[in-house]
Amino acid sequence: MKTITVKKTKGLKGEITVPGDKSISHRALMFASIAEGNTRIKGLLKGEDNMATLKAFKQMGVVINELGEDVVVHGKGLRGLKEPEDFIDAGNSGTTIRLLTGLLSGQEFFSVLTGDQYLRKRPMKRVVEPLSLMGAKIFGREKGNKAPLAIVGSKLKGITYNSPVASAQIKSAILLAGLYADGMTTVTEPTLSRDHTERMLAYFGAEVERSGTAVSIAGGQKLSGKDIEVPGDISSAAFFIVATLITKDSELLIKNVGINPTRTGIIDILKKMGGQLEILDKSEVSGEPVGDIIAKSSKLKGIEISGDIIPRAIDELPVVAVAAAFAEGTTKIRDAKELRVKESDRIGTMAANLGELGITTTEYEDGMDIIGGRTRTMSGSVFNSHGDHRVAMSMIVAGLATEGEMRVWDTECIDTSFPGFVKKLSDLGCRISQLK
Ligand code: S3P
Repeated sequence: MKTITVKKTKGLKGEITVPGDKSISHRALMFASIAEGNTRIKGLLKGEDNMATLKAFKQMGVVINELGEDVVVHGKGLRGLKEPEDFIDAGNSGTTIRLLTGLLSGQEFFSVLTGDQYLRKRPMKRVVEPLSLMGAKIFGREKGNKAPLAIVGSKLKGITYNSPVASAQIKSAILLAGLYADGMTTVTEPTLSRDHTERMLAYFGAEVERSGTAVSIAGGQKLSGKDIEVPGDISSAAFFIVATLITKDSELLIKNVGINPTRTGIIDILKKMGGQLEILDKSEVSGEPVGDIIAKSSKLKGIEISGDIIPRAIDELPVVAVAAAFAEGTTKIRDAKELRVKESDRIGTMAANLGELGITTTEYEDGMDIIGGRTRTMSGSVFNSHGDHRVAMSMIVAGLATEGEMRVWDTECIDTSFPGFVKKLSDLGCRISQLK
């Protein structure tokens, strides 16, 4: 297990970019593979999660080449995928396994999906149940709730589904199956989750109807391959934004970040906490809003975070918890039960790590209270990532604003979403290194 040591740092200054958006990168690979014609993807995230998606499509006969930094996908059309000879390994990636479950349900072949020890513990019933209503035949451990999942491709019919959770993975799995189904498929969510699937389907020429939190697609629509540019991942930028806010004399410009409104909850939350943040130079690239984000050292205060903003910031709540630890007063996070079923139970794992930082927290089933501003640490304190990339990076950020040398244990997982994270911090002058 790799351990990273980190010491208090000040004066993070300069201009950086972050790797491509993970959610958009998955979708670019998937939609390009089932589109007709070629798609050149610029800015694709080459983290382990996205490489699991890429490998899956190669296993199904899609030719995918590297062209310099770019990736070119030779689309096979809706019905051109072939039966994979072996199981498909989604690794740690929830998006890969859940979206592929939808896509594979409507194929004319058999497939098996599995993942690493963490993914095999995560709930799949949330996609298996609605897909079964469409006629999908999916089998798995614990009555179809856990991977490995075996899928016997079958003829699907469109449904209208009211999702109990605001989840882009559920919505996208159903819409992907909907592409292969007879008739219309409609998904309604309690609040809007990230809408990259809807945007990219439209970008590739499909007709997608939207009304409030409902989205509909007619089956059998062809997608046309088209060059696409992936913006920087706001979820990755979030670590640098919080690092800048909580360290002294810092000012950082992060260029070319995706600022899709279904993803910018982190900006709204940090501004409400008193963070000095601004988005500059807004534009649109390949159907997605993009901008530059500037952040400065700030005096933060505790706030309440609940309701519709939660799905807009769901992946950033671990690093928000770190910002809360360095803020004055109490931060209350609620309506975030989904955090319990992410790459780790992020309420439990963050509460334990903040405890190691000397911060008092109270856990609730759907969130936590964090009493900020009173960190007490001992040199050599160890944070545990629990195999969760976002927990690992959040605790490294906490270490940058903490007295003494902190250690973060089990950090290989960072490569799932942010290869080069440690180097980027060290290039900015952060006192960070990997223990041999
Ligand atoms: C994602 C959706 C979210 C998010 C995950 C990526 C996606 O999960 O947490 O990191 O790409 O669709 P849920 O759909 O489970 O909320």
